[in-house]
Parts: sequence; structure tokens; C-alpha cells
Amino acid sequence: MKNHDSAFAPGTEPLLDLGALRADTPGCGSVVHFNNAGCGLMARPVLEATLDHLRLEAAVGGYEAAAARAEGVADFYAATAELLGARPRNIAFAASATHAYSKALSAIDFRPGDTVLTTRNDFVSNQIAFLALRKRHGVRVVHAPDLADGSGVDVSAMAALMRRHRPRLVAATHVPTNSGLVQPVAEIGRHCRELDLLYLVDACQSVGQLPVDVEEIGCDLLTATCRKFLRGPRGSGFLYVSDRVLDAGLEPLFIDMHGARWVAPGYYRPVDSAARFEEWEFPYATVLGCAAAVRYALRVGVAPVARRTPALAARLRERLAGTDGIRTLDGGPSPAALVTFTIDGWQAAPFKVALDARGINSALSYREFAQFDFSDKEVEWCLRLSPHYYNTEEEVDLVADAVAELAASSGCTQSTRP
Ligand SMILES: Cc1ncc(COP(=O)(O)O)c(C=O)c1O
Repeated sequence: MKNHDSAFAPGTEPLLDLGALRADTPGCGSVVHFNNAGCGLMARPVLEATLDHLRLEAAVGGYEAAAARAEGVADFYAATAELLGARPRNIAFAASATHAYSKALSAIDFRPGDTVLTTRNDFVSNQIAFLALRKRHGVRVVHAPDLADGSGVDVSAMAALMRRHRPRLVAATHVPTNSGLVQPVAEIGRHCRELDLLYLVDACQSVGQLPVDVEEIGCDLLTATCRKFLRGPRGSGFLYVSDRVLDAGLEPLFIDMHGARWVAPGYYRPVDSAARFEEWEFPYATVLGCAAAVRYALRVGVAPVARRTPALAARLRERLAGTDGIRTLDGGPSPAALVTFTIDGWQAAPFKVALDARGINSALSYREFAQFDFSDKEVEWCLRLSPHYYNTEEEVDLVADAVAELAASSGCTQSTRP
């Protein structure tokens, strides 16, 4: 197998060698990428692992290529398990975090009157899924209140709701898409374990930028994508399924010939591992790219990434907070690397376009992504900038300068914008 690990020469401390890490990231040469919460820039080994496999499929045939790379595919499970503090049998590949989430929900035998207890900052698609369960199964959706200081969910109040409702499912998003808030998922998990409640965590924005340890969190199920802070290819994600859930026999509603054996005409038996949540058809090139991405993250190191990434965001947030016309929106004592803010005098799309024109990648969030949070903050939209460890302090300053310049120009150009 080719060695694509150009940023990892023996004896080097890769995180300190930002130059090598950036040289290993083709996109660093063309954009100032502050949209890692949307999709991180792939490192070269990820790109090569993905492309190599497509080339192999073209050369020898898709099934034959998969067989030839079985070891590499198995490493996706080993690496992801290592990242999360789990075992390979607990990991299922998924096409996206949402795909993993809906598979997980489909395994729960919801009955009318059951409660789903969640937070006001859970991801938009999760909230829609809960409402769909309410529509179809008469499930009650209860939102735990937030602390008054904007630092996230009130865990004591949530625990009281757990005791009162005995929810069929407790669900929390570690870091929401709409702000840098970090929810106390391990504290919530301790209450779930104490009360033996099924606990599903959305770690889509935290995996790859913060430590995520499933034992420490105490979750039964956890979902994430590979494309954001893990820097994997698009169209990928995973579901962690605890031994508790596997041993209890939970299985997705539609299980296929990969997730189960058809052992008799009228009988199927789910496989023992989290593979029961997967489907037979796989984007093998993507899975191999994800394996490379997770290995890359492990080699850079979760701890140094978790130090550097939020620190870059904090530097940006501080600069923006001191800029006239900007209001930063992220709550909590140690926000993650999602910096969200409003800009006086601008509308959403033109502001983003103005940043695009400067080669700065960003993202917009709208109220429909975060009904509770944006109502509380009284905003209709905000801009999100999300650096990662491979961004530089100089880029942070460049972005802060660009935002300041645009904010200052708002008064004279506002009338010409749609
Ligand atoms: C917190 C959170 N959860 C889930 C998702 C959905 O991920 P995917 O697009 O992979 O389904 C996102 C995407 O932005 C997210 O930010």
C-alpha cells in the first residue's frame, strides 16, 4: 500500500509542523476555509485512498476491488472504534449522520404516549424526526429548558423530566450546528445510566474537534458524519451502537441481507454486531477515505486538535466581538470552533457572497435551523465561521479584518442589496 503520510515523517510532532499539515491539505493553497462545520478540507491521504479505490474498481471490477481492500475497509471500524473508545463491533458505517440517526430511531419501538426527551438545541433534522414520530406514533416530544445564562441545557431540570416522564428516548446534540455551544452530554449520560434510559447523542460537530468517548458520555447510540471535523469525504457517517443495545436485540426497522441472515423461509436472524444497522451496498471508496481520515485524526492527535481548534475560534470570536456592528452569539464557558454572529446592515446572502469573493469560505444559519435558539437570541440568520487546526492565526486575522471591513461598509451599500 502507498504511504501517503507526508505530514508524518518519523520523529516529527505533526501539530507543531503546521506547514507540513497544510502542505498535506491541497485546499489550503486555494481557499481560506472557515467552513469546517460544513465540510472539512480533505488531507492528501484521504483523497488518495478514495481515488486509489475508484481506480482499482475501474481496473479490476467493483466487487473484486472490495475484496482486495477488505483489510482497509476493516480498518474503518478499528480506527473509528479507537477514536470513540469503543470496539469495532459497535460501529456501523452510514451515508450521513442523518442516515445513521434515522436508522437508530427506527430501531426503537415507539408507542403512543411514549416520550422523547431532548434539548432546545438539538439538530434541526433530529427535531423534525421527533415531530414525524409524534405525527405517526403519537410520541410526546419534551424539550428540557436551558439555563438562563445561555450556557446550554439545564441538566438538573432535564434529569427531573427524566424521572417524571421516564422517556423512551433521551436525545442530545453535543455541539449544535447553529452555535459553538458545547452541551454537557456526559452529565446527561450519567442520569440516563442511573435511570437506565436509552440515550442517543448527535456528535456530528464534535467528532474530530473535541474528545468524544462513548464510555465517558454513557450513550447507547451516537451518530456523526466523517466530512466535517474528521475531514473525510462527503456522503459518509457512522453510528455507534453500544453492547447494551446490541445485546438487547434492537435492530433497524428495515434490515437487509447484510444486517441479517435469512436462516429459514419465515425467519431471519440479525447479525451480532452494529453491521445490522448497515446496508449491503457500500461506497467502498468513501469508506476507505473515511478510514484514512480517522487514522489521520488519530495521528494528529485528538488532544492537540481539541486544544488548537477551539483556541483559533476563540481568537476569531474575540476579534469579532470587538468589531462595531457585529454581535457574537455563542454561549457557554468553552465554546467549540463554530463562531456565529450577526452583522448590522447586511442581509444574509450578500454578506456570504462578499466573503466568497475574498476567498473566505463560510456558512449561513437561518431561524428554521434553530427555532428555539434563534428565537431566544432574536435573530433571523447568522453567519458561521468554523476554523480547524490546519488554519493559521494569520488566516484568523485576515478573516476578522474582512468581516470588520464589510461591517464598516454596511451603511453605504445596504440599499443596493436584495
Ligand atoms: C449537529 C449536527 N447534526 C447532524 C447533522 C447532519 O449531518 P448530515 O448532513 O451528515 O446528515 C449536522 C450537519 O450539519 C449537524 O451540524
